[in-house]
Amino acid sequence: MPLAVLYSRAIAGMEAPLVTVEVHIANGLPGFTIVGLPEAEVKESKDRVRAALQNAHFEFPPRRITVNLAPADLPKESGRFDLPIALGILAATSQIPSDKLGLYEWAGELALTGELRAIRGALAMTYGAARSGRSFVLPQQNAAEASLVREAAVYPATSLLQICAHLAGREPLQLYSLHSEKDAGAGEGEEGARRYPGMEEVKGQAQAKRALEIAAAGSHSLLMIGPPGTGKSMLAARLPGILPAMTEEEALESAAMQSLGSSGFSVANWKRRPYRSPHHTASGVALVGGGSNPRPGEISLAVNGVLFLDELPEFDRKVLEVLREPLESGRITISRAARQAEFPARFQLVAAMNPCLCGYLGHYSGKCRCTPDQVARYRGKISGPLLDRIDIQIEVPAPPQEDLMRQAQGESSEIIQGRVQTAYQRQLERQGRANAYLAVKDIDKYCIPDKPGKNLLGQAISRLNLSARAYHRILRVARTIADLAASPGITGSHIAEAVQYRKMDRN
Ligand SMILES: Nc1ncnc2c1ncn2[C@@H]1O[C@H](COP(=O)(O)OP(=O)(O)O)[C@@H](O)[C@H]1O
Ligand SMILES: [Mg+2]
Repeated sequence: MPLAVLYSRAIAGMEAPLVTVEVHIANGLPGFTIVGLPEAEVKESKDRVRAALQNAHFEFPPRRITVNLAPADLPKESGRFDLPIALGILAATSQIPSDKLGLYEWAGELALTGELRAIRGALAMTYGAARSGRSFVLPQQNAAEASLVREAAVYPATSLLQICAHLAGREPLQLYSLHSEKDAGAGEGEEGARRYPGMEEVKGQAQAKRALEIAAAGSHSLLMIGPPGTGKSMLAARLPGILPAMTEEEALESAAMQSLGSSGFSVANWKRRPYRSPHHTASGVALVGGGSNPRPGEISLAVNGVLFLDELPEFDRKVLEVLREPLESGRITISRAARQAEFPARFQLVAAMNPCLCGYLGHYSGKCRCTPDQVARYRGKISGPLLDRIDIQIEVPAPPQEDLMRQAQGESSEIIQGRVQTAYQRQLERQGRANAYLAVKDIDKYCIPDKPGKNLLGQAISRLNLSARAYHRILRVARTIADLAASPGITGSHIAEAVQYRKMDRN
C-alpha cells in the first residue's frame, strides 16, 4: 500500500500530544513535501532522511512523497520526526513490513549514517505513550530517562537498521528493563548529598551556616549580603547538599523539567536536587522560560531545588521583577500569541550581593569610599516587593584574616542534613508542606507565638516598620527555627532570631 501511518509525539509545554505521521507515495515527478506546521528542524528532516536511507542501503523512492504531520494546527519542532518519517517511507514502499507499525510510537533524530541521535523531552513523550498503551521506540541515549516511567514499555535502538531488523522479525529489540533502577537509585540519600561540595570546607561564618540550615529546613528563600571573597558563592553551592531528601514525585517533576530543557536529563541526577546559577547577563526568556514553542527557563529547571542568583543587583531589574509571581505561586505561565504553557517553578531562591558598589562597605579594612547616596542607589536596584519576598536576609561579613587560618573544620553536610530532615519531617506531619509555603490562614493556625514572643514581634513591627508580608515571613521562619529545636510552640527566642534575619528591612 502506498500509504503508511505511524505515531509520534510533539512537545507543547509540559505535554506531549500525539502526532500522526502519514506518509503517502504517489507517481509523478519526484518530490518530497512535509506538511502540518513543521518548523525549520522538521523541514530539514527531508535531507537527513534521504541520506540516512541511502546510507543504510535502502532505496529512496524517486516518486512524489508527501508527509503529513497531524493535527495540522500543532507546531512540530525538532528532529525527532526523522525516524517515523523514514520508517513511513520504507513501509509505504514495502521495503519493510507495516503490520506492526501501529503498536509503537516512534521518536528519534537520524544522523546521515542512519544512527539515532538523542531527543529532547523523552520523559513527557514516554508518559504519553504509556497512557495510550503503545510501546515506545527511541534512541538508546534516552532509554534510561524514559524508563523512569514505570508503566512504560521502552525499546531503545541505536540505528534505523536495527529497527528494520526488529520489524522484519529477524532480530527483535530488547525491552528496556530498569536494571538501571539501581543506577537510578544511586543518587539517593547520603550518596546524593556527598556529591555536592561539603559544608565542612567553609571556615567560620557560623551565622551564615545557621541561616542556611534554617533555609534548608523550611524551604526559605535567602539573601546574603557581604564583601567579595567572604564565601557567599561557596555557601550557596553547598545548600543543595543539606536539603531534605527528594520524594519520588518531586524527583519526577524535576526530571521532567530537565528533560524538556536543552541539556536534557541524566539518570545520574535522579533524586538529586537541581542547582541552577544563571549568570546575571541572562535574558528574561532564559530565566523564566519562553519561546514561540514555550520551553522552561532556569526557574523551572530549578524546580524542587536551588536557584542561585549571584550579584543580584547586576541582574536586569525587569527580569528580577518577573520572579515575584512564581515565588508566591510556585508556577509560571508563559503566554505567547499562539499558545500558552504552564511550568512548575517551586524553586528555592538564594541570592548574593555586595553591600555597595565597591563591595567593601563595613569591611574591617575600611577601604570603602562609597557615599550613602551611592549605597542607597546600589541597593535600590532591588525592588522592595522582591526583597519583601525573601524570607531570610543576612550579612556575611569578612572574617579577620587570622580567623580564617585558625578556624577548625566545621560540621559536615551529612550531620546538618540529618537535622534538616528531622525538622522537615515535622512540618510534613503537621501541615503537609514546608513552612515557607504556609498560606496566610495556616500561619494563624500553626505559627502562634507565646506571650513574650508576641510582645517582641509587636515591638519589632513598630520599630522596623515592617510590611504585612514581612510579618508573615518572620512567623514562618520562626516556625522553622522552632522545628529545628523540636519545640512545639514558638517562643520569644525563636521570634528574636527570625527578626534578626530581616537585615534589609533595617536600613
Ligand atoms: N569562609 C571561608 N572558608 C573557606 N574558604 C573561603 C571562605 N570564604 C572564602 N573562601 C575562599 O575564597 C574563595 C572565594 O569565595 P566566594 O564564595 O567566591 O566569595 P564571594 O562569593 O563571597 O565573593 C572561595 O573559593 C574559597 O576558596
Ligand atoms: Mg561570589
